[in-house]
Amino acid sequence: RRRCLTVALRSKVSVTPTRILTKLKHECATPLPLLQQVANNMSSDMRAGLAAEAGPGPGLPMIPSYVENLPTGNEKGLFYALDLGGTNFRVLRVQLGGKDERVIATEFDQVSIPHQLMFATSQELFDFIASGLAKFASKEDGRFHISPGKKGEIGFTFSFPVKQASIDSGILIKWTKGFAVSGTAGRDVVACLNEAMERQGIDMRVSALVNDTVATLAGAEYWDNDVVVAVILGTGTNACYVEQISAIPKLQGHVSSSGKMIISTEWGAFSNGLPLTKIDREMDAASINPGEQIFEKTISGMYLGEIVRRVLLEMAEEGGLFGKSVPQKLSTPFILGTPDLCAMQQDSSGDLHAVGSLLYDKAGVESNLSERKTVLEVCETIVKRGGSLAGAGIVGILQKMEEDQRGLVFGNGKRSVVAIDGGLYENYPQYRAYLQDSVTELLGTEKSNNVVIEHTKDGSGIGAALLAASNSMYNQDL
Ligand code: GLC
Repeated sequence: RRRCLTVALRSKVSVTPTRILTKLKHECATPLPLLQQVANNMSSDMRAGLAAEAGPGPGLPMIPSYVENLPTGNEKGLFYALDLGGTNFRVLRVQLGGKDERVIATEFDQVSIPHQLMFATSQELFDFIASGLAKFASKEDGRFHISPGKKGEIGFTFSFPVKQASIDSGILIKWTKGFAVSGTAGRDVVACLNEAMERQGIDMRVSALVNDTVATLAGAEYWDNDVVVAVILGTGTNACYVEQISAIPKLQGHVSSSGKMIISTEWGAFSNGLPLTKIDREMDAASINPGEQIFEKTISGMYLGEIVRRVLLEMAEEGGLFGKSVPQKLSTPFILGTPDLCAMQQDSSGDLHAVGSLLYDKAGVESNLSERKTVLEVCETIVKRGGSLAGAGIVGILQKMEEDQRGLVFGNGKRSVVAIDGGLYENYPQYRAYLQDSVTELLGTEKSNNVVIEHTKDGSGIGAALLAASNSMYNQDL
């Protein structure tokens, strides 16, 4: 009997946390050849998407934004920007002063989006937005003035995949990032907003409907003409870039004065060649959009904490990490957030005190030093994979642009700027470093010297206002 018992115990503990960790590291590894393959796949999926209509099919959605001219600096007047994207809703006003004065004044309000609104009806969500706008617009401020008789104009940053046929309208293709609002998919989101504004008695007009990446590109380019790509790494992720109309087969016949258009890649939908694990597949299956947004689920802020939680739960259940019984709270989805991983990774104390208290506060877990070290290694593995793959995605875009127009990106002495915004990039130093290392490693020193990766903070608000200005209904009067 004794022998039997020993065997049974052994087989129970044969899956140790260390073994799970070794397997995880192996499966999440991002050696250079893998990163290069991901960058190549990104380029080819971009090409396929430029040829095909958005929707299920080959390639990325590659959504035409109908932004064909970037801000010039001459934009003048008072403009509003609304921003609905992930965690927060923002409303902003900007007084633009033209070439010399540029941005004279800005003011904004921000509220976090109540969780229940993510599962509400379309009308409830848009009423929330419109009432936020109404409250904000009613506050007087002497620094802002609109010309008498003119309607207020809005740049609406709506950070979900939208099929546009013009700069000031667009049909929601699907929700992402945990939103499941009913009755919006398939509808023009500008019409939804207009109806809600009418209900609130607001007489304003949406002059530009833009994705957050597009607004970020416009905002960053306003200060620096070398910006060619914009990336959001926050709750979700996406990238956009300036494309030649002639390279967009699905826009054949479209007449454009500039010959260019910003394309929102919706790279969150990418999945070709990613190093994924059983845990990633389980998280995807449990999500509200299974099978979709796989790149987003591997590299963006909404999911990194959740991946780590699932790994720790497996280690606790199968390998006895955190003692004999599995801490109950650890079974709660999304109990660990990406900011928690970040906070733990900044702990350099000998006993990893901050890691211990965070695990206790957030997940009800009591840990010893060796367990805390294991937790940090899991965070490191998942964050390294995320940052490195984000870097490979950026290189994929740059590569595609360079292949089509030699010298555009890496030309002699040329400087190309990639503007990045979003809480994940802004607040997570290790993630940022892995992203930069991956870009440098993939491009090699010479090429990467020409590529500047820059953090642009809150460029999207001003960017949306600038695009509202360049598409203003009053421009003909100028
Ligand atoms: C999601 C959305 C995309 C947005 C990105 C960043 O991927 O689908 O439109 O740009 O999040 O907010």
